[in-house]
Amino acid sequence: MRDVRAVVSGMKEFLEVEYSYMIQRLPFSYAGIDGDMGRLGVLLGEVFALAGVGFSGKLAVLNLACGRADETGVLAEAVAPAQVGFYLGMDLRADAIAEAKKRWELPGGEIEFREGNAAMIGRMEGLPEFDLVFIRHQNYWHEPMVWEGILDEALAALKDGGKLVCTSYFDLEHELFTASMRARGARQLANVRNASSRALPDAEGKSVDRWVGVWGK
Ligand SMILES: C[S@@+](CC[C@H](N)C(=O)[O-])C[C@H]1O[C@@H](n2cnc3c(N)ncnc32)[C@H](O)[C@@H]1O
Repeated sequence: MRDVRAVVSGMKEFLEVEYSYMIQRLPFSYAGIDGDMGRLGVLLGEVFALAGVGFSGKLAVLNLACGRADETGVLAEAVAPAQVGFYLGMDLRADAIAEAKKRWELPGGEIEFREGNAAMIGRMEGLPEFDLVFIRHQNYWHEPMVWEGILDEALAALKDGGKLVCTSYFDLEHELFTASMRARGARQLANVRNASSRALPDAEGKSVDRWVGVWGK
């Protein structure tokens, strides 16, 4: 017969672990974003499976150069059964950060959006090491030297065993990013061309989350 005290103590432990979950308080600001987010969710599922990556426990997640951070909810779903315990989004654009703050809430966890330079993350005090660093639609092509600094910091911010996930709008930009990660000795665990990526009508060769890659340190 099982020891009743062990069962009760297990139940107590289970109830004391606070459950955290992401809430979207505002709809997205543009038509089409809901569809992009649905496709991004599927893509992340595929690339994590391909990379053999699974998450557990409560995670610290860093979303660098996050803009409005529309992907916040999808990211939280993609790491399930893990939960997001701490989430930090950072971007230079004050308007985008203000919008992200209004949109996302994380009961049971801590969520923050900061206007700031992603290349300075290492100098910010009080941050944990991150399980996941996400960069959606990196901009390496536009400002290579700025992004070299951001990538140094992104890798330094990862805990051992942490993963960096990045998406790109176009092929050459993704290749440049990938070459830079390789030069840093990061291990590419998976790289996927998104077959259902939405084309951008005003920019030939560019599409939403066209590429996604996963790296470990
Ligand atoms: C192509 S946008 C992607 C925005 C968002 N991740 C998305 O997918 O909608 C690139 C973002 O990088 C941000 N950015 C560029 N340099 C940055 C830096 N040094 N620190 C923080 N954000 C930066 C820009 O403000 C812009 O929001």
